[in-house]
Amino acid sequence: MLANTKQMLAKAHLHNYAVGHFNINNMEIMQGIVQAAQNLKSPVILATSEGAIAYAGINFLYNLAVTASKLSKVPIALHLDHGKDMKVIKRCVALGYSSVMIDASSEEFAKNIRLTRQVVQLAHRKGVSVEAELGTIGGKEDLVRSERMVYTDPSKAKEFVDRTDCDFLAVAIGTSHGAYKFSGRAQLKIGLLKQIKDKTNVPLVLHGASGVPPKIVHLAQKYGAELPGIKGVPDSQIRLAIKNGINKINTDTDLRIAFDAGVRKVIREHPQELDPRHILGPARELIRKVAEQRIKLFGSVNKA
Ligand code: G3H
Ligand code: 13P
Ligand code: ZN
Repeated sequence: MLANTKQMLAKAHLHNYAVGHFNINNMEIMQGIVQAAQNLKSPVILATSEGAIAYAGINFLYNLAVTASKLSKVPIALHLDHGKDMKVIKRCVALGYSSVMIDASSEEFAKNIRLTRQVVQLAHRKGVSVEAELGTIGGKEDLVRSERMVYTDPSKAKEFVDRTDCDFLAVAIGTSHGAYKFSGRAQLKIGLLKQIKDKTNVPLVLHGASGVPPKIVHLAQKYGAELPGIKGVPDSQIRLAIKNGINKINTDTDLRIAFDAGVRKVIREHPQELDPRHILGPARELIRKVAEQRIKLFGSVNKA
């Protein structure tokens, strides 16, 4: 049975740690993440973006997560990441996802409230919890992109949560999606986070939180990846964010770099290799390592 995201995050909220949200696109990525959570007895949130659903198919991803949750002793939730298409959101709710995100952050305040409220009403009827976003997180990925960054306005956060009845709130405090997060100093607006925290009483979510760890970046580069100027969120900033109210942390980019490094290493070192198990197995193992590092950083070890 899939776990309940709201209960998972309520516990994290109460005890001041964060649960890792990890994006999945295929079986190997998911298995690496789940193995990490199991090894560390940690709850985990598997997330599918609309791009992942378009790539792999919603039924494949849903059933992968359900299978993992049946076989595993740790709580595993399944979450829709950055839901923008009402048809996809409705499909996830009907199928039995644990939670969905409605990302109407690029809309005006009133329209963001209206769309979020609409999703909350349909999701809560089915016991599905809802993440919403106020302010915009910068950066570009496949289907998730925002050219500009607008920080979350703390004076509007309470009104937003009260009027929408959303269960979790994604905040814009200086992170951005993808591998190029900062051109200068890598620093989050922790003061702003404190103000948002003071005004709201829901678990807060940090998107664009990948650390872009040098070890894994160097491995990918050693085997041919071209990633000039790549920069993530330092671990010290993540710790501060958790201390000041973040309870859900989204990671995708670090998994992408790990997967890329693993695949590149095998095909560079063994150009005669054709067996997909030998090509993807080491990538899955690197995903596990990176996910374990993240889970330790988030403080959710032994919280299953
Ligand atoms: O925040 C977005 C996630 O990393 C997914 O991006 O649309 O490329 O799957 P995607
Ligand atoms: P990263 O690109 O930093 O991994 O962020 C992922 C994310 O926010 C998914 O919603
Ligand atoms: Zn995101």
